[in-house]
Amino acid sequence: MTSVIESQGIASVFSNRTSRKSASRAQTARGAMADGEGYRHPTEVQMSQLVLPCHTNQRGELSVGQLLKWIDTTACLSAERHAGCPCVTASMDDIYFEHTISVGQVVNIKAKVNRAFNSSMEVGIQVASEDLCSEKQWTVCKALATFVAHRELSKVKLKQITPRTEEEKMEHSVAAERRRMRLLYADTIKDLLANCAIQDVPPSALPGSDLESRDCSCMVPAEKTRVESVELVLPPHANHQGNTFGGQIMAWMENVATIAASRLCRAHPTLKAIEMFHFRGPSQVGDRLVLKAIVNNAFKHSMEVGVCVEAYRQEAETHRRHINSAFMTFVVLDADDQPRTLPWIQPQPGDGERRYREASARKKIRLDRKYIVSCKQAEMPLSVPWDPSNQVYLSYNNVSSLKMLVAKDNWALSSEVNQVRLYTLEEDKFLSFHMEMSVHVDTTQAFLLLSDLLRRPEWDKHYRSVELVLQVDEDDAIYHVISPVLSGDTKPQDFVILASRRKPCDNRDPYVIAMRSVTLPTHPETPAYRRGETICSGFCFWREGDQLTKVSYYNQATPGFLNYVTTNVAGLSSEFYTTFKACEQFLLDNRSDLAPSLQTL
Ligand code: COA
Ligand code: ADP
Repeated sequence: MTSVIESQGIASVFSNRTSRKSASRAQTARGAMADGEGYRHPTEVQMSQLVLPCHTNQRGELSVGQLLKWIDTTACLSAERHAGCPCVTASMDDIYFEHTISVGQVVNIKAKVNRAFNSSMEVGIQVASEDLCSEKQWTVCKALATFVAHRELSKVKLKQITPRTEEEKMEHSVAAERRRMRLLYADTIKDLLANCAIQDVPPSALPGSDLESRDCSCMVPAEKTRVESVELVLPPHANHQGNTFGGQIMAWMENVATIAASRLCRAHPTLKAIEMFHFRGPSQVGDRLVLKAIVNNAFKHSMEVGVCVEAYRQEAETHRRHINSAFMTFVVLDADDQPRTLPWIQPQPGDGERRYREASARKKIRLDRKYIVSCKQAEMPLSVPWDPSNQVYLSYNNVSSLKMLVAKDNWALSSEVNQVRLYTLEEDKFLSFHMEMSVHVDTTQAFLLLSDLLRRPEWDKHYRSVELVLQVDEDDAIYHVISPVLSGDTKPQDFVILASRRKPCDNRDPYVIAMRSVTLPTHPETPAYRRGETICSGFCFWREGDQLTKVSYYNQATPGFLNYVTTNVAGLSSEFYTTFKACEQFLLDNRSDLAPSLQTL
């Protein structure tokens, strides 16, 4: 059941008047859809390649290294089309390979710029394979790369991307949140690795566990898998400015990683995933690149191989620059494409043991991230357990869910009273509503006032009391909220809510406060309250002028809560409207109440 609080907190009265605004919204939506037929994003670049024997690995499948080169080239051409100047690959987010591609099939790659920031851009890439004989198509992977535009002597300020379709608007909006996560990534992983409780138990001490099905007597020393290889960067490996192509480096990295993985299993492994990584510094034609790889840990059915790349000039061999590190997950498939059980790895003392433990921690982090970040909202449980190790991803999920809801095209104006508008959005699994009004208050002030949930009982009668459970960081906090007994209920409801707030990334972005339920061991359900849940709700604030802000409240209702929402939407109750008006009064009463933190925003 979703949040009574978050849905009841807003009220409405209905009228049949249709606002000009809504008509123009509908037109925009229709326009975008009509344009969608045959419409192509101006930065979209496509590449189609026929997979020939020269592109394949020992298994007769397209080598991932070759695929990475094609992906990088397509994405780079899209970035350069937008930037109008040379671009370099700055980073590549996690990639999960869903299918291998056979010789004779066609690879279709599509790339487009989702959003431009200052000098960097997020490029979204889709890879599909096509069987020419059967006309079947498969999604192979999706990737997100960041490219940075470079002009000699001057810093580049890229022009903004204007999203047109609903999908483009969502990608554009969520790209800002992904960028935040990317820039925090190295620190996040470092903190998580430092704090992750890793069970450092030798395999022989685990009788009756996963170990039983693995033969402990044939442990492979990690040393046996170590690979070192050197590459000389030649003109075909670089762009016209002499900078090595990111895709070429990724292909070399995949090559050494595959050798290390093969040395563990004495078979031909298949690359399943590459962890997010950052090109820390450039390399040029004439540089020597030393690539080192080793199996860090072997789990039952998968292994992690780590690769690092250093660059040096011939004349300064001792001065090596660490330009990249990546972690790749391999499996070994049998004749039926089922993963084979892998041998245990015996790490070297020192760094080897550290990497062995860190690989286990990375596996947990990777699974948490994959589940929370890529899980579709309809598949996600309403309340997810919060803990420090998934905080970054839950916060991302919280904000991006709200941004995706906001970016939907098919919001329909349901009613408008005293310049407060109520919109609804009907989808397969959800009914969502959104209230909107313009308030004579500074935008940052409105954002600050409403992001302090402790003050919500001042204007929202559905918030009887609020306790700050945990101030996670400057922008995220967890609250325990108690609502009064509702009609038809015997006891009050309580909620545990993660509130994540974001300042705009540029002047077209809104301020955002996103809320979703989480569970905390310190705040279990108790007989005194009925536990309520909110899946996605919150506020957006758009600056409409000096001291004028458009305030919008969004809420995605789930079935258990439908009755309350539909009663309001149908005009049988005016609580939405009353509460939103109280919110306006609260903002007006406190408009001069400059919070100390306001100066820093
Ligand atoms: N992921 C995504 N973007 C990143 C990033 C990361 N890990 N680190 C930095 N950036 C972005 C910044 O956000 C900034 O974007 P903005 O201008 O839109 O705000 C941009 O890169 C420049 O950041 P800045 O801090 O000025 O520079 P930097 O010293 O961090 O350099 C690179 C960033 C990418 C330019 C630099 O690391 C580099 O040259 N890397 C090698 C690139 C290359 O040659 N790739 C091909 C293979 S070698
Ligand atoms: P870390 O050691 O913290 O993992 P690095 O960036 O130094 O980070 O290395 C990344 C990965 O590259 C390591 O986890 C390891 O798998 C591999 N690696 C690093 N150094 C070597 C080496 N000398 N020989 C083989 N592999 C190496």
